Order: sequence, then structure tokens, then C-alpha cells
Amino acid sequence: MSKPIKILSVFGTRPEAIKFFPLVHALDADDRFDSRVCVSGQHRGMLDQVLEIAGIVPHHDLDLMQPDQTLDALTANLLTGIGRVLDEEKPDWVIVQGDTATAMSGALAAYYRKIPVAHVEAGLRSGNIHHPWPEEVNRKIVGSFAALHFAPTETAANALRREAIDPASIHVTGNTVIDALHWITGEIAKKPDLAGDLADLEQRFTGKRIIGVTSHRRENFGGGMEAIAEAIRRIAARDDVAMIFPVHLNPNVRKVMNAELDGLENVALIEPLDYPHFARLLDICTLMLTDSGGVQEEAPALGKPVLVMRETTERPEGVEAGTAKLVGTDADVIVRECNHLLDNEAAYSAMSKAHNPFGDGKSVARIVEALAGG
Ligand code: UD1
Ligand code: UDP
Repeated sequence: MSKPIKILSVFGTRPEAIKFFPLVHALDADDRFDSRVCVSGQHRGMLDQVLEIAGIVPHHDLDLMQPDQTLDALTANLLTGIGRVLDEEKPDWVIVQGDTATAMSGALAAYYRKIPVAHVEAGLRSGNIHHPWPEEVNRKIVGSFAALHFAPTETAANALRREAIDPASIHVTGNTVIDALHWITGEIAKKPDLAGDLADLEQRFTGKRIIGVTSHRRENFGGGMEAIAEAIRRIAARDDVAMIFPVHLNPNVRKVMNAELDGLENVALIEPLDYPHFARLLDICTLMLTDSGGVQEEAPALGKPVLVMRETTERPEGVEAGTAKLVGTDADVIVRECNHLLDNEAAYSAMSKAHNPFGDGKSVARIVEALAGG
């Protein structure tokens, strides 16, 4: 048998870990690959939650997170830290996912060593370098030199073709987050206790419709976050709803949300949920109010409408399919659109029954075959 292809998977935040773990599982189980994992630790607690559930023990952990880290200090540490791992491992390929500082720096460090880069979740574009910020530029940087582009949808693939990327290097795979969601749903079915800790809240909110909330976008810090908090407070004034809001560990999010929402009867501000419990929240909620990227892809897989608290989205497929609606960060608009979905059965039903365009749960198999052939 020929020598296995040595692959270094590089990631560091919660969403990357969720979208990466099914791929790491597959590479580990496949003799054609020598699979190595480097985590940057750009996130600490929220990354570790995923690693533990997925049973991944990284070969390298750079443990880089600093409280309230700045983009430049983070990026500088990532570039040199990942560079050192590349010099030690000398992989045949580096894989990165999405558009975080870790993905961009990992790819750049590989490029500096002329190691080919495979980009998972390639081709997402909002067309606005300030929304999402800095992710739109991060992913364009990776896309400008990646040797393999795993586009989740045809729309994303077309965005790459428009940038004159070699069409032979683009593979439409679906988004690995759907593979991850299928895996975790299967685990919960086998071991329901994995997602049992929301029982007290479910009990407390019996008879109310649950709205799941997440918010963390850097471009929303300041006025945007305050408007989101105001909208949540106004929606929670209804006595037929309850909001469950696992608050991101970023201090810029926590200080606003704790100051504005703590102690409200119908709002549960809780710590970030591990993945099985977040899947449970997706399952029990009526709808999601979020500025997250990943949640826009997951919630429709469970038939849950998503109101996206952003000015623009790099995931237009959801809006086009009718699973998601952009509501921006104006409190009046968020409240109006949320009430509309809660009070209008036809509108709700149309969104909840729309087809999820983000994948069929078989993305990892497609990526693995492309890597084996590449
Ligand atoms: C990062 C990504 C963003 C992604 C988001 C997912 C960049 C530039 N941003 O943004 O693309 O959508 O993750 O959540 O790569 N913190 C903790 N513990 C944790 C995680 C974060 O305490 O487990 C706090 C720390 O104070 C940290 C801060 O949050 O400094 C910000 O983390 P950072 O990764 O820089 O930014 P995010 O807003 O999380
Ligand atoms: N998520 C989670 N626990 C939470 C909130 C979110 O496990 O308390 C998961 C969610 O299922 C999704 C991912 O985290 O897969 C999204 O991460 P985030 O919103 O932080 O980042 P983004 O997707 O916007 O980059």
C-alpha cells in the first residue's frame, strides 16, 4: 500500500470544531490518511465542550486564547504558533474550515511553506467586507490560494467561479454541520442523558412557546447588541413565550446581555450549551433568533424558522429557500417579525416546512473522496 496522505486539520473555535469533528472522525477511520489535529485554542471553554463530546484529543493544542483578545494579537500568535506545528509535522495537506482568524492564519502559514490547503465551507460571500467582520476578508484570503475548495452549495461554488478559481478545484459537498447534527442526534437517541440538563427550564416554561436566542457577532458590538437586547426584552413581555439564551463567553456580549436582561421572568440567560444540549434547544424551540452562521444552517434541518439579526448574510440560500429571514439589528423590526411568526400560522408553517438547502449529511464522505483523489 502506498504511504498514507498526511493531513493536518487546523481549527480553534466552537463552530469550526462542530463542523470539523465528523471529518476528523472519518479521516481517523480511513487508512488512506495519516490524520493529525492541531487546535489553536482561539476559544478555550467552548472549543473544549466540542472536543469532549466528539472524543477528539488533538495532537497539538496551542492554547492561545486571551481574555477579550484583539484581532491583531490573536492573528500574530496564530500565525507563528501554527507555523511551528507545520514545521514539526510537515503534512502533505492542511485543512481549514470557514472564516475565523484560526482558519485564515492556518491557511496562510501553510501557504508560506508551500503546503497545499483544502478549504471546507468555501465560497461563502456577503459581498460586504464589514458584514460579517472580519470573516468576509478571512475567507477571501483563504479562497485566493486554496488548492481544494469544498463549497457547501452551488451558490457558494458559483461565487468561487466568479472569482476565476479553477473549476476543477471546486467540489460541491453540502455543509458538514448537517453531518455533525445527524451524528449528535444519533448519540442523543442512544444516550438521552447527554441532552437532559434543560429539563428544569423546560419544566419552568411549560405551556409557553420557546424562542432560542444566540448572539455574538463582532460587527453587532455596541449599538447592535443593545438593540438586540431591547428586542428580546420586548418580545419576552408576551406571556405566551419564553426565551432561552445561552450567552456567548465573549465579554462584549455578556456585559450587555447581563445588564439588560438579567432577572426577566421569561428570559433564561444561561451558559453556552454543549452541542447535545444546543441540539435539544433547537428541537424544543418554536423559532431561533440569532446572528450565528451555523444556526442558520442547522435550525432548518429541524424545521425551525430562523430570524437572522444581521444586515446581510453570506447564506442567501436559507433566505431564498424560505427557512430564514433577515431582520437586521433594529429592535422594532426584530419585534415585528418575531410577533408575525408567532401570531400568523401560515407564515410560520411556510418557514418551518421549507427545504433545508445546506446539505444532506453526507458532506464528509464527498470531502474525503476528493482528498483521497487530490
Ligand atoms: C470567533 C470568530 C467568529 C465566529 C465566532 C464563533 C474570528 C475573528 N471570530 O468570534 O468568526 O463566528 O468565534 O463563536 O475568528 N471567550 C471565552 N471562552 C471561549 C470563547 C471565547 O472566554 O471559549 C471570550 C474570550 O474573552 C475571547 C473572546 O471571547 O477573547 C473573543 O473570542 P474570539 O474568538 O476572538 O471572538 P469571537 O467573537 O468568539
Ligand atoms: N452552539 C452550541 N452551543 C451554544 C450555542 C451554539 O453548541 O450555546 C453551536 C451551534 O449548534 C452551531 C455553532 O455553535 O453549530 C455556532 O457557533 P457560533 O454561533 O458561535 O458561531 P458562527 O456559526 O456564527 O460562526
